[in-house]
Amino acid sequence: MTNIDTNIFESLESEVRSYSRGWPAVFESASGSWIRDENGRDYLDFFAGAGSLNYGHNNPVLKSALVDYIVGDGITHGLDMSTVAKRDLLETFQDKILKPRGLDYKVQFPGPTGTNTVEAALKLARKVTGRSSIINFTNAFHGMTLGALSVTGNSMKRAGAGIPLVHATPMPFDNYFDGVTEDFHWFSRVLDDSGSGLNRPAAVIVETVQGEGGVNVARPEWLRALADLCAERDILLIVDDVQMGCGRTGPFFSFEIAGITPDIVCLSKSIGGYGLPMALTLFKRELDVWGPGEHNGTFRGNNPSFVTSKVALDHYWSDDTLHKSTLAKGEKIHQAFTELANQFEGSVSTRGRGLVQGLVFDEPERAGKVCALAFDEGLLAETSGPSDEVVKLLPALTITDEELDHGLAILADATGKVCS
Ligand SMILES: Cc1ncc(COP(=O)(O)O)c(C=O)c1O
Repeated sequence: MTNIDTNIFESLESEVRSYSRGWPAVFESASGSWIRDENGRDYLDFFAGAGSLNYGHNNPVLKSALVDYIVGDGITHGLDMSTVAKRDLLETFQDKILKPRGLDYKVQFPGPTGTNTVEAALKLARKVTGRSSIINFTNAFHGMTLGALSVTGNSMKRAGAGIPLVHATPMPFDNYFDGVTEDFHWFSRVLDDSGSGLNRPAAVIVETVQGEGGVNVARPEWLRALADLCAERDILLIVDDVQMGCGRTGPFFSFEIAGITPDIVCLSKSIGGYGLPMALTLFKRELDVWGPGEHNGTFRGNNPSFVTSKVALDHYWSDDTLHKSTLAKGEKIHQAFTELANQFEGSVSTRGRGLVQGLVFDEPERAGKVCALAFDEGLLAETSGPSDEVVKLLPALTITDEELDHGLAILADATGKVCS
């Protein structure tokens, strides 16, 4: 008899798989902040689909709208045709998100992933300005396709490209030099020096909080200075809000805290509401220089995501309840992490904004050990940062205080074991 490996994941699925290694369970169902494996074991989810499930797993309000839509034979695949679901979403996005914030953006539907919206943003910036070079930041993460990868910092991910990644120049993110140098000292100097060798950039792309890069939080004044510098030098400002948008840091857009208006904004992950694939690229009206079909994609019209996206905007963004509760829950995590930082001074520190919070370990491998111990206790948490030295929390914004307390107690216990 042939010896067939019964673990189909190991025998058939590519070695490229990653989360399944850190969380060795086979998951079957999920609800809210909980995910259940096939043996009936429940895990509290502090990762929320890498920020794609801001409203929790199988959110009942969104689920009911989705089920009705499917049962009613609503359009599922719509290319970029005009559909009722798309119209409803655009109207709601305009009324609930853009208008109240005084934003006059056009909306592009690129392919439905984060890297798709970043590619669209970079292409548009180049087309508008006629320049090719882009400025990115140290420890940035923007996605895996070649354009997005060229503005991503992580050397392991960059190596995967297999070709030189060009037309991007990294600048120091906020606090890269621990406050020792003046903000944008190097950037403005090389921009203004015709002998610096820096090609005049089309755009700057920035995350207001670098999630994958290790929960690096840009100060509002740093973001404002960046926006001013871009405006003065006629460089487009792209905010990649794929992970930090849709309320992750409190307000709907993460840049609202700085009072800036980026030229281009990238959204994906939680914009679909239900964890369904969807992305948007937003840009100032005058930047809409695309010709019809110039940036295409078969899956730009995933209408079930339009349905859940619209209902999520209606349900969660008609007032500031979610915004406020996100800040309060973020503060709860911050306090718990500050206690750990005090208890293990010199080994552990903390940083974050809203419901993205990081526990930073001076000995990087400790972060992975904490996540492994947490998994054993029924908690999903992931590491981030250039050396995977940060335990990064991205719970659903709908998580309850009791659930937060439960998960934080597991993390405190694990940190104690690893650091003592
Ligand atoms: C800021 C940011 N941009 C882009 C991406 C890429 O998104 P996707 O994995 O959906 O392509 C991510 C993914 O984590 C991200 O965090």
